[in-house]
Amino acid sequence: MIEEYSTEVTNSHSKKSGKIELGDVTPHNIRQLKRLNQVVFPVSYNDKFYKDILVAGELAKLAYYNDIVVGAVCCRVDAFDNSRKLYIMTLGCLAPYRRLGIGTKMLEHILNYVKEDVNRNYIDKRRALIC
Ligand SMILES: CC(C)(COP(=O)(O)OP(=O)(O)OC[C@H]1O[C@@H](n2cnc3c(N)ncnc32)[C@H](O)[C@@H]1OP(=O)(O)O)[C@@H](O)C(=O)NCCC(=O)NCCS
Repeated sequence: MIEEYSTEVTNSHSKKSGKIELGDVTPHNIRQLKRLNQVVFPVSYNDKFYKDILVAGELAKLAYYNDIVVGAVCCRVDAFDNSRKLYIMTLGCLAPYRRLGIGTKMLEHILNYVKEDVNRNYIDKRRALIC
């Protein structure tokens, strides 16, 4: 639970050996995402933001450090005529858990998703041309 977050800044060497994982945002844990965003960002996000996040799939992830939620990334795709742009709406990590590679892990996940998405669409377009 988010309330369990430790604000104690412990030795960075012991922390760096921890396990970093990413997980889906679901109706069961969305309150944790809301709480995390409230702590990390100076602005508050409305209900529509969180409603959209629930259907964002791989574009919204919670980051766990030793099974505790400590970070999150939320993106959306904006479509313009023939192009699409990925917009990272929030990328945040709780202060005591920064500089441990959690932000990097979230960003890598999003960049991999974009790379795969580009490849998929390229293949789809080629198939469409062949048909
Ligand atoms: C931005 C943020 C998500 C980075 O998360 P993180 O888990 O600390 O990032 P990482 O540990 O993966 O850091 C990767 C690299 O980024 C750089 N970096 C991260 N924070 C930095 C800082 N405060 N100053 C300078 N370099 C920094 C470093 O090069 C770092 O590598 P290193 O620790 O090996 O030197 C985190 O600082 C945060 O939540 N900030 C507040 C919210 C915010 O501003 N979000 C971005 C806009 S939405």
